[in-house]
Amino acid sequence: MKKKILLTGDRPTGALHIGHYAGSLLNRLKMQSEFETFLMVADAQAITDNYDNIDKVRENIFEVVADYLAVGIDPSQVNIFIQSMIPELPELTQYLLNLVSINRIGHNPTVKAECRQKGFEESVPAGFYLYPIFQVADIIAFDADVVPVGRDQAPMLELTRDVVGKFNTQYQSNVLVEPEAVFPDMTINLPGIDGNKMSKSLGNAIYLKDTRAEISKKIKKMKSDSSRTSINDPGDPAKAIAFSYLDIFDPDVEGVEKLKHQYKQGGLGDGIVKERTLEVLDNFIAPIREKREAIISDKAMIEKVLSEGTKAAREKAGQTLARCKKAMGINYEFLDLINI
Ligand code: TRP
Repeated sequence: MKKKILLTGDRPTGALHIGHYAGSLLNRLKMQSEFETFLMVADAQAITDNYDNIDKVRENIFEVVADYLAVGIDPSQVNIFIQSMIPELPELTQYLLNLVSINRIGHNPTVKAECRQKGFEESVPAGFYLYPIFQVADIIAFDADVVPVGRDQAPMLELTRDVVGKFNTQYQSNVLVEPEAVFPDMTINLPGIDGNKMSKSLGNAIYLKDTRAEISKKIKKMKSDSSRTSINDPGDPAKAIAFSYLDIFDPDVEGVEKLKHQYKQGGLGDGIVKERTLEVLDNFIAPIREKREAIISDKAMIEKVLSEGTKAAREKAGQTLARCKKAMGINYEFLDLINI
């Protein structure tokens, strides 16, 4: 039986952290053998708000791919590719743009929030404003059946389904596949060390490449229940961030329950909770970190993975674009220019 197609991606703006692991990488590992997977390193999308810092984007392609491989994404099953090397994507976008109103783009809540964050409220670069349509093309070009993403990406998927419907109706075809959004069960918003959502831009993340010393330093900064004045006071585990990490990464579930119980009763110092957190996180990260070091020092291997993945992705996108152009009646086969 033909495998269903899965597409997803990340903007290469920094190395990946344990929030990415819990929120998406773990799910990708579980799905990679069941689906034909295209994993996009979305450099062109990252450039829409980093057009003045392209070095950062280019360098982080390697960081992100090293993270993928270190956690066990298998390039023999997954096509890992560079978005900007697929010219079919902007070409497809050009035709999809006709099917979406400016208003519709303006109402996208994710883009609105991002504009506020980035100070784009007064004047938003057109490339950034339009990135959701480019993302629609990313999904459509690979005939994606399923697109696992974070909740913040839901408006992009809704838009994609609309555009697919419009295209198929307008051009009386069935050429485009309607994708299904998947919000992985494990998408727990693991907090950063300050209690806000873990994010590289907030500087509160624990990375898959962090050393034990770096992890330790970050754990020391984690907020705990500040209403306690002494170890003997009862505390609320929900206010001690370290417990969120134990909840997700500590294999000893019973042990965590015991610690929480003691914390509630009083008599358990935050130092003990944090020591356990360090053990748990370093045990989890150490093997990834070691694999990652070997991977990042073998640039040629990463380049080979990206070359092969990008070639496969380009072939797939080319087929979809040809199908779309034919449905639209702009295939002009008599020109026979396909191979120039
Ligand atoms: N916007 C996504 C993010 O920031 C990255 C992305 C680009 C993507 N193209 C995609 C995700 C297509 C899923 C499908 O996380």
